[in-house]
Amino acid sequence: MKILIADDDFIARKTLSSIISGEGLECVVVEEGISALRELSKPNSPTIAILDWEMPGLNGIEVIKNLRKMKKKYAYCILLTAKSDPKDVETGFDAGADDFMSKPPDITLIRQKLTVAKRIMQYEANKQASQRELEKYAAHMKNLAEDRARQLVHADRLATLGTLSAGMAHEINNPATFISGNIQTINKCWKMLLDKFDLAESSDPQVQYIREEFPKMTEGILTGVHRISKIVSSLKSFSKQEKSFHRDFFDMEEAINESFNLCQNAVKYNIDVKTSFAPDLPQGYGDQKQIEQVLVNLITNAADSMSQLDTGKLTVECFLENNMLKTCIKDNGTGIRKYIADKIFNPFYTTKGRTNGTGLGLSISRSIIEEHGGKLNYSPLPQGSKFCFTLPIE
Ligand SMILES: Nc1ncnc2c1ncn2[C@@H]1O[C@H](COP(=O)(O)OP(=O)(O)OP(=O)(O)O)[C@@H](O)[C@H]1O
Ligand SMILES: [Mg+2]
Repeated sequence: MKILIADDDFIARKTLSSIISGEGLECVVVEEGISALRELSKPNSPTIAILDWEMPGLNGIEVIKNLRKMKKKYAYCILLTAKSDPKDVETGFDAGADDFMSKPPDITLIRQKLTVAKRIMQYEANKQASQRELEKYAAHMKNLAEDRARQLVHADRLATLGTLSAGMAHEINNPATFISGNIQTINKCWKMLLDKFDLAESSDPQVQYIREEFPKMTEGILTGVHRISKIVSSLKSFSKQEKSFHRDFFDMEEAINESFNLCQNAVKYNIDVKTSFAPDLPQGYGDQKQIEQVLVNLITNAADSMSQLDTGKLTVECFLENNMLKTCIKDNGTGIRKYIADKIFNPFYTTKGRTNGTGLGLSISRSIIEEHGGKLNYSPLPQGSKFCFTLPIE
């Protein structure tokens, strides 16, 4: 603890500083009021000040008044004075003094007064430390509350999106079925019409034109309807993903083979597939059908990225890592540019154009894996991409 002595009297300064140093305390000594105020305004300033009432520059009362106005760190101020009139004492206390000491200073009294001052200032320091702790804790709690609020808003948005998707899927499904049913009937009627009016062989240019264009139009409508059905089924999985629980132990090799069967169309002749499984691989725990859905999404994405290659390379590896079953799907396709890499898991984000992608594949896959207690992540490769997911084991 540092103590300031401000007195213009050499003897008083000497006496006080030798007592204080004898107590093992650090001493700052000045001869007049302005230096005293400067010392008390510095960072890491003395905690206790013994100030002579009568000093050049600023007197003791003025130093205390200025100090209290600054409202910086509190210093315990003892006024040193020969004045003993109750009116003077009152003036000193009114100015903000904490104690008085008469001149010439009595050694025993100084020690006692310093003990009290130290006790009070120690208490003050403890209080300030607790206050700082409390403020830190309050700031931490505020951050936690803000984080939680953000998470809730996000969860709420996802829930709304889920409900909205379920509603839309239902509304779109009925007219889509209706269109596809009617197109099939129209095709049958078209054939009947051609036969009935001998239009199949007609050389009339208008009839020829309609005969060629009509099947293309109905084909186009059917492709559109299939596309709608694909979006609807993705929307359905998106809205139902939280609700399905058919968890059990399952064989990852079987799930991977099953997924390749489902992707036969996407993984065509130009892709060389390699699978590798670590020996004695334990079973995974989860909903096998949902995990197959994730694998199909990842394999299809990999195949899409290699569609322009003469020989695409698709590797699936399965191994144990940190007591979790890890599956990695690597391709040597187009790769993912840095600036879109952090968007690929967002719902409805696609670079495949409206007709080829819904942009829900990765977002649904990540939700499924996280629901299972695992993680799905992307990492770039020098040529291509790598997607890995983890799952709990038996
Ligand atoms: N293996 C990959 N290589 C390159 N780009 C990828 C790969 N996997 C995902 N992407 C990028 O991430 C985007 C989002 O993928 P996601 O599976 O969510 O939707 P999508 O494939 O576009 O549509 P959908 O899955 O409905 O067919 C893709 O459009 C593509 O740009
Ligand atoms: Mg996809």
